[in-house]
Amino acid sequence: METVLFVGAGRHQRRAIAQARARGLRVVAVDRNGDAPGLAEADVAELVDFSDVDAVVEAARRHEVDGVLTVSADRAVPVVAAVAERLGLPGIGTATAYAMTQKIAMRRRLAEAGVPQPQFAAVRTIHEGHAALERVGFPAVLKPADSGGQRGVFRLESADDLDAHLHAALAESPTDEAIVEEFVDGLELNGLVIVGDGEAIPLTLSDRLRPPGIGFGVGWIHVYPATIYGDQLDEAERVAVHAVHALGLRNGIAFPQLLATPDGRVRVIEVAARIPGGQMADLARHATGVDLVEVALRQALGEDVPDEAARPQFKQPLAIRFLTAAPGPLPTGRVKAIGTLEKVLAFPGVVQAELYLSVGETIRPVRLDGDRRGYVIAIADTNLEALERAEAASKLVDVVTE
Ligand SMILES: Nc1ncnc2c1ncn2[C@@H]1O[C@H](COP(=O)(O)OP(=O)(O)O)[C@@H](O)[C@H]1O
Ligand SMILES: [Mg+2]
Repeated sequence: METVLFVGAGRHQRRAIAQARARGLRVVAVDRNGDAPGLAEADVAELVDFSDVDAVVEAARRHEVDGVLTVSADRAVPVVAAVAERLGLPGIGTATAYAMTQKIAMRRRLAEAGVPQPQFAAVRTIHEGHAALERVGFPAVLKPADSGGQRGVFRLESADDLDAHLHAALAESPTDEAIVEEFVDGLELNGLVIVGDGEAIPLTLSDRLRPPGIGFGVGWIHVYPATIYGDQLDEAERVAVHAVHALGLRNGIAFPQLLATPDGRVRVIEVAARIPGGQMADLARHATGVDLVEVALRQALGEDVPDEAARPQFKQPLAIRFLTAAPGPLPTGRVKAIGTLEKVLAFPGVVQAELYLSVGETIRPVRLDGDRRGYVIAIADTNLEALERAEAASKLVDVVTE
């Protein structure tokens, strides 16, 4: 029996671990948190802090794993690559893993390859920050160089905003580094690209809508297919594939994040080398019939990914509405009671819905990815009708706060 190692065993990994086992694989999972839900699902659970690569390598050797992967955890991507390299297993390589998780390294690579992207500068000190703003102008975006999930991401309107937020952005970076970028106004697009033997095949491109205000970076609605068309749609696919090649990914799943601007251009925000979180794998499954976890398992084991596993089987318009506080459908405050999702799931077109919330927790205004407390996925004949359905169904969620 073949064995795969999952690096990280949180909520996102749990289902993938179950799927790997159902497919007849033996699963070893590592996480530093003994309560991580994926550990209970695995054949072998190891309490290992995966930031300690040697410890993960040791566990991988001891259990004679044939492949290593993660799902949705950006911090695990360099670890997976390093473990694979050390054990001679299939992987994306540590250089590519670095370029696809460290925002400054990524921007430098993309710049060398001529991939369109915002102006940027690396920042470690307040002095460098002010110099960066001179180059980049206002509005700007400040973010940690190596974090994720919108932690420590700020929009800057003035030099005072830099003084106010630089500390918080640097604090989210394990290497105390931040990046300042030109703020690009436009429609955000999420791509999914499957890369095999150096050939990048775009799978989906969808709108990622965001709330106004402080949570400006949080994806709270996905709409498939994307609402751009014609030349800009072609350009978005071209830029996504160009970026993936520029970053050196030859086998893997890429998650390009783009901005489509009103002048018809497209700029790259970042490209991750993993299955995205935030229900993007569900999006791929419902919208195209492609199972990203199956693709990732095959790639981790060095198996061939046949065309029928990597190419869209169909094109089903859909929308995903995340459940958040205002302007989303959830109330803020301490949760007193949670109803069932029965009415939501019975709504026309709804194919999947979930609420991750328990009584006594506090729902806060939207600021981070983590403030999304559930989602509703609806399908329809058109993307906009799917969005209307997901919106309407999400209003049927019963949560009472005090
Ligand atoms: N230069 C930019 N211009 C406009 N919006 C941006 C820019 N950089 C980031 N954002 C917004 O912030 C979000 C998070 O930024 P990103 O670089 O993807 O960091 P993270 O690793 O936290 O996902 C993006 O998805 C986008 O909505
Ligand atoms: Mg991102």
